[in-house]
Amino acid sequence: MVPQSTILIVADLEDQHRDTADALAAASEYRVLTASRESEVNDIVRDAHVDLVVADLDAQGCDIVEFLTRLRFTHPYLVRVLLVGDTGAELGEILSRTAAYQYLTKPLQPEQVGLVVKRALETRELARRHRLLARELKIGEDAAVFQDRPDAPAKVQASSFERLVYASEAMAELCNLAREAARTQLPILIKGETGTGKELLARAMHFHSTRSSSPLMMQNCGGIPDELLHSELFGHRRGAFTGAVSDRLGLFRAADGGTVFLDEISEISPSFQVSLLRFLQEGEVKPLGTDQVLVCDVRVIAASNKPLRPMVDAGKFREDLYFRLKGFELEVPPLRSRPDDIPVLTEFFVSKHGGMLGNRVLGVANDVVDLFRDYTFPGNVRELENEIRRMVALAKDGEYLTRRHLSPEFAKLKATPRPAAARGLTAEGKSLKEMVESLEQQLVRHALEKQRWNQSRAARDLGLSRVGLANKIRRYGLDEGGPLRD
Ligand SMILES: Nc1ncnc2c1ncn2[C@@H]1O[C@H](COP(=O)(O)OP(=O)(O)OP(=O)(O)O)[C@@H](O)[C@H]1O
Ligand SMILES: [Mg+2]
Repeated sequence: MVPQSTILIVADLEDQHRDTADALAAASEYRVLTASRESEVNDIVRDAHVDLVVADLDAQGCDIVEFLTRLRFTHPYLVRVLLVGDTGAELGEILSRTAAYQYLTKPLQPEQVGLVVKRALETRELARRHRLLARELKIGEDAAVFQDRPDAPAKVQASSFERLVYASEAMAELCNLAREAARTQLPILIKGETGTGKELLARAMHFHSTRSSSPLMMQNCGGIPDELLHSELFGHRRGAFTGAVSDRLGLFRAADGGTVFLDEISEISPSFQVSLLRFLQEGEVKPLGTDQVLVCDVRVIAASNKPLRPMVDAGKFREDLYFRLKGFELEVPPLRSRPDDIPVLTEFFVSKHGGMLGNRVLGVANDVVDLFRDYTFPGNVRELENEIRRMVALAKDGEYLTRRHLSPEFAKLKATPRPAAARGLTAEGKSLKEMVESLEQQLVRHALEKQRWNQSRAARDLGLSRVGLANKIRRYGLDEGGPLRD
């Protein structure tokens, strides 16, 4: 429905203006407000959304010229119509000062006012659309500058597994495996550095399993005293230990039929390892403070950012428990080994946090994405997300995220130019041979980086033999200079 427009008539209203106001209001197309004194006028303009004002130059209670001139600046989109008794010599000057849309002469004809109001509002709507279209066009041009430069990486389609977003082959493989594993009833062990998305993967697996309509319960096992962890997972009887003021069901029984996610599993004590093993073998739960043994059906998904195998070898983690936990073992790769995920994750986090803060960021400059692709991200996806959250918070509505939004730690990093092909390549003072070599060197470096310095794969991408690539590496003195070697 088109919102009703509001018209304000500023005049000494005891005379025929009242009829005009009534006639306009009766047409019921408009909401008509009237005012005669300056203070009233100011209140209305401040508090009500007024679309058009008809002001009588002869009004006694208000300096109309001053009022309309002020409106030009405070409410530029409010249409101003001037009502005059005679078209005196000053009229031209008044019209130009107030930039009135039109003037009408008295006595007022309600039909005439109605017509002018209708036309003025239509014109205003057209101007508004024009502004919007011009803005869209500008946004489109900016987007072309930022995202569709010839050297920009081709836009990659993002895939998702529940809330996990990815585009890399490594993550696609992992998620396919996880989908299959989710369908089984086997315990799952998820390995991976901090912040790689282990918890998101566990959630996704629960919701892709036959247990999805039963609860998913999460427990972080790090830094919790044994007794408390035992009571959290297996429950306790009132009075089982100091502070146990009531019975507690425990997560395993609360999640009966569903999934329990145990994070930081490497941190559990040897005695808790025994309890957990018994649960995994028999499905038995013994709440603290009872001799009662209860049975429940729960699938365990455990995660660890410390490798468990060395802990087993060092005798710190029971081998039998380790094998029980890894009915299926999944490893989430670190972000630095899957640079293809960086553009899609960047875009995803920009819209996630842009939306949350009500801040409409238009996109991310390519050199920022390049810089992210080159960075090692020890904190993995969490670190990327935190950086983008911060950038979005600093950006203004309608801006692109550029290097100046980066935190100081990121701002000091240097990105390797992508094969931007000719980026930075000038004809000045260089022979064609030098330019071609410079381009070749950039393309070879890019292919190597993309394949994490795996020479066979890079050679395949470049359409070269392995030996041919090795020659070029030697010729250009290329070296890895980064920790990404396979
Ligand atoms: N592929 C992804 N898509 C979208 N968001 C992701 C992805 N991977 C991680 N995240 C986000 O990164 C953050 C860290 O993820 P998560 O908590 O799952 O990591 P983790 O591996 O469990 O970390 P830790 O070992 O520190 O517990 C979360 O905010 C999560 O939403
Ligand atoms: Mg986690």
